[in-house]
Amino acid sequence: MVKTEERTVVQVLSGRAAWPPPVWLMRQAGRYLPEYRALRQKAGSFWAMCMNPEMAAEITLQPIRRFGFDAAILFSDILVVPYAMGVPVTFEEGVGPSLPPIATVDALTGAQAQWVEALAPVYETLRNLRVALEPKTTLLGFAGAPWTLATYLAEGHGSSDQRAAKLWAYRDPDGFQQLIDRVGDCVAAHLIAQLDAGADAVQLFDSWAGGLTEDGYARWVVKPTRRIVDRIHAVRPGAKIIGFPRASTLAGYKLYAVGTKVDAVSVDTAAPQSWMSGFAEVTTVQGNLDPLVLMTGGAALDIAVDEILNAMRGKPFIFNLGHGVLPETPLENVARLVQRVRQA
Ligand code: CP3
Repeated sequence: MVKTEERTVVQVLSGRAAWPPPVWLMRQAGRYLPEYRALRQKAGSFWAMCMNPEMAAEITLQPIRRFGFDAAILFSDILVVPYAMGVPVTFEEGVGPSLPPIATVDALTGAQAQWVEALAPVYETLRNLRVALEPKTTLLGFAGAPWTLATYLAEGHGSSDQRAAKLWAYRDPDGFQQLIDRVGDCVAAHLIAQLDAGADAVQLFDSWAGGLTEDGYARWVVKPTRRIVDRIHAVRPGAKIIGFPRASTLAGYKLYAVGTKVDAVSVDTAAPQSWMSGFAEVTTVQGNLDPLVLMTGGAALDIAVDEILNAMRGKPFIFNLGHGVLPETPLENVARLVQRVRQA
């Protein structure tokens, strides 16, 4: 029987390096897999798949069967949190998510009991997965971080300059703080429920953390994340948490690691490998292959993988991408990547 702490991803999250490093990829389940596209056709919609525990478990397992990644990440979406708080979320084919923009925290309804009730299918998916997975495979849950969720709630869709959220935060910092806190309450409850359902660790996606001012980053990224980490650790002291404050500055990543107390920081493609090896003295590091070099494949992929491996050898490191797998990625490139990491 493999104990939880012997799963390699969990081991590395505890600060103990493993070599070759464990490997999994953000968006490892999704449209680049023919078996995903086939099921999606049958299910009708992305949201229906997220909320069906059998289908969501099956989709989570698809990339594990094909490539044998060291971690399976729950198939779901960061926007289940606004949904649980009473905001209707729709996904338009080829466009992305859409929700009615909110202007006050009062638009968010419910409390912990209602939120976890609304998200019960997600926890059932995790229970299905723990039974189906091999014992050595780490099971990851996740949620969006408050700042990134606030950008969707304020704007009604994804936004490359986070305009609506920033304008709200500058105009009405107290009201925006209430929004961040309330979303954080739901995120913490959702992550604790995922850990209770069998997740070995959880990842917080702060996809829009880049582009904030120094003060904004401390206030809307670091502090709300620390509040969630503290809430989780109050009830689950040993729980492992990965943070992904995408597109942070190098100074920002350090502030995040020290200020939030997450167990690992996932860094994006722009983080230099020479810097990452030093950062691994501060925290466990995850990342940061360019999804576009994975799409390219061949010698370019081999060189990029080797650069990361050479920089991170012997450090507490989890091999991943700098952002998610792109739908156009050839399957053989993913197989080639996993094989190369395993030969490290
Ligand atoms: O990583 C995984 O494999 C786990 C599943 C997962 C999904 N979304 C599935 C998904 C995770 C962890 C997410 C996180 C997520 N969702 C983020 C944060 C990470 C990031 O990418 O920055 C964000 C911002 C979202 C919101 C979201 N969901 C967007 C913007 C989109 C549309 C973009 C797209 O690729 O179509 C989604 C849809 C979505 N989430 C898909 C998948 C597999 C595509 C659905 C489909 O068309 O079949």
